[in-house]
Amino acid sequence: MGDSRGVIAEDGLAPVLLAVTGGIAAYRACEVVRGLIKADVPVQVAMTRAARRFVGETTFAGLSRRHVLTDDPDPNDPIYPHLDAARAARVMAVVPASANTIARLAYGLSDDVVAESALALAGRLLIAPAMNHRMWLHPATQENIQTLRDRGATIIGPDAGDLAEGEQGIGRLAQPDEIVQAIRGLLGEGSLAGKRVLVTAGGTREPLDSVRFLGNRSSGKMGVALANEALARGAEVTTILSNTVVRPNGGLQIDASTTAELEHAATEHAKTADIILMAAAVADFRPATPETTKRARTDAWSLELEPTADILAGLAANRQPNQLIVGFAAEDSEDIARARQKLERKGVDLIVLNDISDATIGFDADDNAVVIVSATDETRVAQASKRAVAAAVLDRVEGIRP
Ligand code: CTP
Repeated sequence: MGDSRGVIAEDGLAPVLLAVTGGIAAYRACEVVRGLIKADVPVQVAMTRAARRFVGETTFAGLSRRHVLTDDPDPNDPIYPHLDAARAARVMAVVPASANTIARLAYGLSDDVVAESALALAGRLLIAPAMNHRMWLHPATQENIQTLRDRGATIIGPDAGDLAEGEQGIGRLAQPDEIVQAIRGLLGEGSLAGKRVLVTAGGTREPLDSVRFLGNRSSGKMGVALANEALARGAEVTTILSNTVVRPNGGLQIDASTTAELEHAATEHAKTADIILMAAAVADFRPATPETTKRARTDAWSLELEPTADILAGLAANRQPNQLIVGFAAEDSEDIARARQKLERKGVDLIVLNDISDATIGFDADDNAVVIVSATDETRVAQASKRAVAAAVLDRVEGIRP
């Protein structure tokens, strides 16, 4: 495990720069500071003018035990305190990140202490947005977020639910403990620090013609939850996304729509992975002769399907030394014996079995309930959020290979 306390000894500067921007959720940044301090991670707080209308800097100074960086510097401070803080920070976390600050960071403005610090930052940037759902969904905000994501920023949340202004929607700040965990993950402090994790998420689509495809109902939420949990545990994560409705908070992300594309990307990235989590729902068959243009309406259309490659079995057959491989099986009933046969047939270490006969869990739901099956035992994970199920799966994986 990395030790963030080692960093402070050098010059008294903190490994985490926490930038608080304007919004009701600013008070929740206090919990993030508390969580970091409790975990012995020194944190330097910087606040925008708007943030100071919501929470006083004295609160953050008290919690972080350091002067807060603002646009009204103390005359006794060093001349470039924010540049020093940005140079030292291995992680700058913007919590909450307002639509305004997201735009300023995307455009590279330097009009206050937070924007200047982000420009001078040498470390990783984490953004935890919180705002009204219409502001969040506005194409301007979405484009700005994508710009930051493309530059390598980790975006955590926002969550859906009740918003402060009495509306409902996506815009709530992510949970403070999740933000703390994500920051620690970026600091390389988690239990999977130094490990490379490959995750596949979503469901493949096999073209029938130029507009139609054979697909499945996988949303990718379980795979993305696994990727986020692995990131939070400090792993270096690559996620291959097949037509997902969600994307992970960070890490390398590769899009692969068809089984062939997924096979190509997975085979390549498996070469360097310590852990492979094959959560994608992969087509077992594809049209033998897809048409290249849109097929016109006729009386009937008979399709000939041919089997696809079993990617998971292929990865297991070419397993790297000490590589741990987890397969997933969505079944109509909780048949553990069948899952164990699948584990043996495919040559993997664990099969995560989920019973899709219950519509409140599994495909496209936010919850899941699984049984993690190994060659010799099984671990039941009762219905919980996909993130909690992801944590249980990674606990089991770490139980095999810490
Ligand atoms: N899988 C894969 N390549 C395929 C099909 C499935 O890599 N062509 C992977 C899935 O990502 C999953 C695991 O294999 O991790 C189990 O998938 P499942 O569809 O349940 O297995 P099948 O081999 O199709 O078994 P069966 O149809 O007999 O249930």
